Amino acid sequence: MEHARHVFRVLLVLLLVIVVVIVGRSFLVPKSFGMYGNYRYDNVPEQMAARPPLHGGARSCADCHDERSAVLAKGSHARVSCEVCHGPLGRHVKDGDVVAKMAIDRSPRLCGNCHRKIDGRPPKFPQVVFEKHVEGGLGPKGCLDCHDAHSPKL
Ligand code: HEC
Ligand code: HEC
Ligand code: HEC
Ligand code: HEC
Repeated sequence: MEHARHVFRVLLVLLLVIVVVIVGRSFLVPKSFGMYGNYRYDNVPEQMAARPPLHGGARSCADCHDERSAVLAKGSHARVSCEVCHGPLGRHVKDGDVVAKMAIDRSPRLCGNCHRKIDGRPPKFPQVVFEKHVEGGLGPKGCLDCHDAHSPKL
């Protein structure tokens, strides 16, 4: 009988610990934890609010640069989005106002990102070997001596 009481006390303490853990956990674990997986779901909207998207998409420049957009749309770069070459809208315009100059990369490296001859590129995609393309090497304006970046086909 004496032993049974000891066992009972140990069980009681164990039960108490379990209750404290369960009740304590419900206070400590954030509300949205586990809603959709092993993470705090509220963190997703919080991170989205902290990092508004910088890119505006292919049409986002046309409102203010309609002439240039028209030139681009007619040329062979029609499917190249402005932001690919100039950088994201968010660095240039915020809430409809121009806040900073837009980057312009005039170097041949920009063109080379897409047009430098690389064996892995689809053979039909227009590519040039820089050293062979221009006899005597590139001039002071690089590729822009001959090509218009917005409508490059000669
Ligand atoms: C293939 C890359 C490329 C794309 C795509 C592109 N641009 Fe450009 N853009 C350039 C380069 C390079 C220059 C510099 C041209 C020069 O100095 O001759 C330039 C110049 C400009 C300028 C003039 C800056 C000045 O010196 O006056 C504006 C404005 C501009 N781009 C806007 C746009 C807009 C808007 C779009 C989309 C409709 C666009 N660009 C698409 C590469 C690009
Ligand atoms: C709210 C209007 C507005 C929007 C939207 C806008 N721009 Fe501009 N941008 C301007 C103004 C104003 C200037 C300065 C005058 C000019 O050169 O036309 C300018 C200038 C530029 C220049 C020349 C460099 C400089 O900053 O002076 C480039 C390149 C350019 N914009 C590219 C873009 C691209 C690419 C987009 C889309 C991702 C874009 N802009 C969206 C208004 C706008
Ligand atoms: C983001 C990738 C990209 C960049 C950067 C880029 N281009 Fe292009 N370019 C293209 C695409 C896509 C085409 C259309 C290819 C097609 O029609 O198959 C094209 C077409 C061309 C053509 C016409 C080829 C033809 O025979 O039809 C020329 C010339 C050209 N680009 C030159 C340039 C120059 C010069 C620069 C740098 C100022 C440049 N490109 C930057 C993607 C790019
Ligand atoms: C001296 C003038 C000149 C310069 C500078 C120049 N190009 Fe060209 N490019 C041409 C001519 C002319 C053609 C069209 C003839 C042809 O198809 O080879 C052409 C065609 C192209 C084509 C299309 C090739 C194809 O297979 O359809 C691409 C891409 C191109 N150039 C990219 C560039 C790049 C990138 C640069 C800078 C590294 C550059 N060009 C500098 C004159 C020039």
